Amino acid sequence: MPRLATAFSEALGLRLPLIQAPMAGGPSSPELVAAVSAAGALGSFGFAYTQPEEIKKQSAWVRGRTGGSFGINLFVSAQPDAIEVAAQRGALEAVAGYYHELGLPAPEPVRAPYAPDLAAQLAAVEEIRPRVFTVHLGALPAERVKALRALGIVVGGSATCVAEAQALEALGFDFIIAQGGEAGGHRGTHLRDPGDALTGTLALVRLVVHAVRVPVVAAGGIMDGAGIAAVLALGAQAAQLGTAFIPCPESGAPQVHKDSLLAAREDDTRITEKFSGKPARGLANRFMKEMNARNAPQLAFPAQNSVTGKLRQASAKAGKPDFVAMWAGQAAPLSRALRAAELVARLEDETIAAIREVAALI
Ligand SMILES: Cc1cc2nc3c(=O)[nH]c(=O)nc-3n(C[C@H](O)[C@H](O)[C@H](O)COP(=O)(O)O)c2cc1C
Repeated sequence: MPRLATAFSEALGLRLPLIQAPMAGGPSSPELVAAVSAAGALGSFGFAYTQPEEIKKQSAWVRGRTGGSFGINLFVSAQPDAIEVAAQRGALEAVAGYYHELGLPAPEPVRAPYAPDLAAQLAAVEEIRPRVFTVHLGALPAERVKALRALGIVVGGSATCVAEAQALEALGFDFIIAQGGEAGGHRGTHLRDPGDALTGTLALVRLVVHAVRVPVVAAGGIMDGAGIAAVLALGAQAAQLGTAFIPCPESGAPQVHKDSLLAAREDDTRITEKFSGKPARGLANRFMKEMNARNAPQLAFPAQNSVTGKLRQASAKAGKPDFVAMWAGQAAPLSRALRAAELVARLEDETIAAIREVAALI
């Protein structure tokens, strides 16, 4: 019997209303997803940059290790057409000095496609039929949502403002992830200027809970049970935590990202478009500060990811934080290095303790 349940967590068969956020680019490794799901929360894959065959392989691996549910997440924003070499010059020159500094050959023009084919990725998801499928950076047509739901998949989407939440509900999405401005990683904004859609989790969750009838999952700046208890009090049906799971030994984030989170002492996160071409929140480092300060030219998302890819990898390999995209939410200093199962168990105990403490005020 779960000690802590909402209608949403019960419908998904979870032991507690907790989702480990999908984290594309490495952190949400199969080991992390399997460990979180086995511990009774919902482990989620961030498969935005993963080819369909690999999506199937990693999903099968997790399925083989846990009877628990797991989630898959994809980015659904449109891809730019091939960008001409001449139009890439500014973006390549902006990073050339950093390539040189790390002993890398000069950056080369990048070639389309800049990310895996979304239609093929969606076909893989339909074949796998995960318990939960969520989208980020956009929506899906109503017919596609209906088709996924007909396969028994629970479908969710990220909203950073009320208009996005209502639009997703109108398209038939089962639940909305309200992503507050505190959140680490890419801003899910797709109907507004991302700079205008930075409402904090406290305000956003409450506004979205009032605006839609479907369950709302809260994301952004939640690192412990007090944070989970707070968003449950706001009417969220579950909390989605990303940054909190990055330092877990099972996560595939580079060691320098984990170490930097554990050493973070105050809110030192910033939003930048310079790593990928779309705004995302991470720990401020040299690349972010310098590229933001001189508003260096960049390519459209996700082509800019290819421009910075070798730099990020070489910096991570050298154990240097300077050029790594260390996505993190504003509460990063609350990070702890615990095994995933231990973190889930602590979050459960802390949430119950926080709810009891508040109830004792009556
Ligand atoms: C390293 C990292 C990668 C992320 N990648 C994704 C992703 O692939 N898909 C997605 O929907 N959200 C992604 N997010 C955002 C999370 O879903 C969530 O909004 C965020 O982690 C919540 O804020 P927190 O990091 O303070 O917990 C990512 C977040 C981080 C920290």
